[in-house]
Amino acid sequence: MNISKWFFANWYDVLNSIVEPLVIPYRKQTTSKCEGEVVEIGGGTGANLLFFDHAKKITILEPDKYMRKILEQRIHNIKIPVKIIPTIGEDIPVSSNSVDSVLCTLVLCMVDDVEKVINEAHRILKPGGKFYFYEHIKANSKSGTIFQFILDPFWKFATTGCHLRRNTLEHIQNSNFTDIQYDYFNLNVGIPFTIPNIVGEATKKQE
Ligand SMILES: C[S@@+](CC[C@H](N)C(=O)[O-])C[C@H]1O[C@@H](n2cnc3c(N)ncnc32)[C@H](O)[C@@H]1O
Repeated sequence: MNISKWFFANWYDVLNSIVEPLVIPYRKQTTSKCEGEVVEIGGGTGANLLFFDHAKKITILEPDKYMRKILEQRIHNIKIPVKIIPTIGEDIPVSSNSVDSVLCTLVLCMVDDVEKVINEAHRILKPGGKFYFYEHIKANSKSGTIFQFILDPFWKFATTGCHLRRNTLEHIQNSNFTDIQYDYFNLNVGIPFTIPNIVGEATKKQE
């Protein structure tokens, strides 16, 4: 048994219960726009499940068995067909050009290879398909940069691999996606520093 992974999966929902009211608007802003056939990368414990208003079929990728155990219990309450695949976003077992929407919320901070995951999201989307993202990112203020630098090693340990200083926006901007639209905002969770976030969508170019 991997104690830290088990602890993170179970602690995640407790932490979520504190910050979730602040996060829900961004879950809605992304998840509720997902249409048709959807792939969610790193679904965790299923925090987005309630917001899939326009999805017809959802495939959730989740590599962590402790997260998956909680997720598997939650999908029973969902009316849309949901399939869980125990895999990573760097290598998605889904055909190219086959899905309408791909969703990533608070995941690109944790994957091993952000570029590969974004490329995979792009590959599996149909032309014209949408990639929806909500992620915390690298700070651009001096105080935020110092705060993230100090906290990052502890945070990575406590969360089993979440990176506070990732420049996820730059990765998305350098990808093959077009029409990248996003809001940048600072989330205030009641600590002395706000957390920089992005929420938005990008499109796979029509052929
Ligand atoms: C911070 S949680 C976010 C969970 C959920 N998306 C949410 O919004 O609450 C990050 C999730 O990404 C998963 N993850 C980590 N590395 C991954 C990878 N390479 N590919 C896909 N998911 C990954 C973790 O297991 C975890 O469930």
